[in-house]
Amino acid sequence: TSSLVNTAQNILNSNFQEKKGFTLPCKGLYPFQWYWDSGFIAIGYAHYDINKAKSEIETLLNAQWNNGFIPHIIFHNESNSYFPGPDFHMAELHLDASTEYKSTGMTQPPVTGFVLEKIYQIAKDKIDILDFIKKNIDKVYDNHTYFYKNRDINNEGLVYIYHNWESGTDNSPVWDDIWKTMNSPDYDFERRDTSHVDPSERPTKKEYNYYLHIIDIAKENNYDDAKIAELSPFLVQDPLFNAVLIKSNNALINLYKIIGNNEDKITQLLKWTNKGVKSFNTKLYDDELGAYVHYDLRNEKPIRLVSSSSFVPIFANIPSKQRAAQLISTMITKFGGEDMYLCASFDPTNERYNPKKYWRGPVWINLNWMLYYGLLDYGYNEIAQRIKSDSIELVDKVGFYEYFDARKSVYNTESKGCGGNNFSWSAALFLDLIN
Ligand code: DGY
Repeated sequence: TSSLVNTAQNILNSNFQEKKGFTLPCKGLYPFQWYWDSGFIAIGYAHYDINKAKSEIETLLNAQWNNGFIPHIIFHNESNSYFPGPDFHMAELHLDASTEYKSTGMTQPPVTGFVLEKIYQIAKDKIDILDFIKKNIDKVYDNHTYFYKNRDINNEGLVYIYHNWESGTDNSPVWDDIWKTMNSPDYDFERRDTSHVDPSERPTKKEYNYYLHIIDIAKENNYDDAKIAELSPFLVQDPLFNAVLIKSNNALINLYKIIGNNEDKITQLLKWTNKGVKSFNTKLYDDELGAYVHYDLRNEKPIRLVSSSSFVPIFANIPSKQRAAQLISTMITKFGGEDMYLCASFDPTNERYNPKKYWRGPVWINLNWMLYYGLLDYGYNEIAQRIKSDSIELVDKVGFYEYFDARKSVYNTESKGCGGNNFSWSAALFLDLIN
């Protein structure tokens, strides 16, 4: 593994933008700063260059809006290798948008809270890192306040996402039925992603039409949260997104306790978490499927499909022990055959599964990373070790790709992964997993 460690560090270092202080998720394919990528990347840096870890988080938080919102892409620099860029998104339509940084008007899973805690655990100089956390933690708290104030429209401790790009799982089959409810124009635009990676591993043009149409509706309403809640054809409570938010609530509680003197914030965070956990276990749990599912707020119905997002609640201490056992049995039965690496991003037994297409089936290292820690927390050491060794084996076989075909047999004849190569979070989380 020592040469893999070197490779992983080299990938991060070469994707690091010296002048701006942040890291590209992947050269060419993703040429700016992304919210959740930055969080995972910072964890990798914490293992060997704590200043870069801090810089990654600071550059993200610098772009925070006045209302606490943090955008999913920050356009620190110009680049014509990506579509849609700042001119399409026009986030400046929102009154609270940063005047200093161009960005999108949508967000991504709020990882920063648990990332701060993780970095605290990794850092050798606790005084120094605590100093850094003290300077930044309230910004993360403000981000959570933004979510619960504006996006928990039923006051149930669960927040909505209004775009599939907010979920992180961009083209998951989970969204397919929502697209059927939409009438979107056929946009005239030039894809850039498909010039960097195999188009058969990326979303379709038709899907991009829907993605752009939702942004247009948000733009027509100046990215106003209340208007989006009223009008967006895509309005979903996502188990991955909400579990990450709750995990981050809990991490902020732990860090505020270490810092001291923050009783009000701790009380508020606990309230959000308790309400969210309760709703998770009543509203988002599907007994028949033995899994957490998404809830379509616009069409008022659960989306009864199992994806790797269904399992992320174990990362945030959401299921009871008994329910965790059901959840893991679903994972093993559907996703865990001996001929499969854990954990496919979508139910391999479902007809919508596609082993190579982005979020419609392939294994992702960041999901595996969250599941690994969740499984450890619940005492499932053997499966945890399997997820970890599967992740390491995939990287070892083909390199630090963006995502990986879960079928073991394909590696008899294939020597590459899917999507972008030299992918920053695959490198960063590898550095954490091998510790
Ligand atoms: C993309 O362009 O595919 C990104 O994932 C959007 O965030």
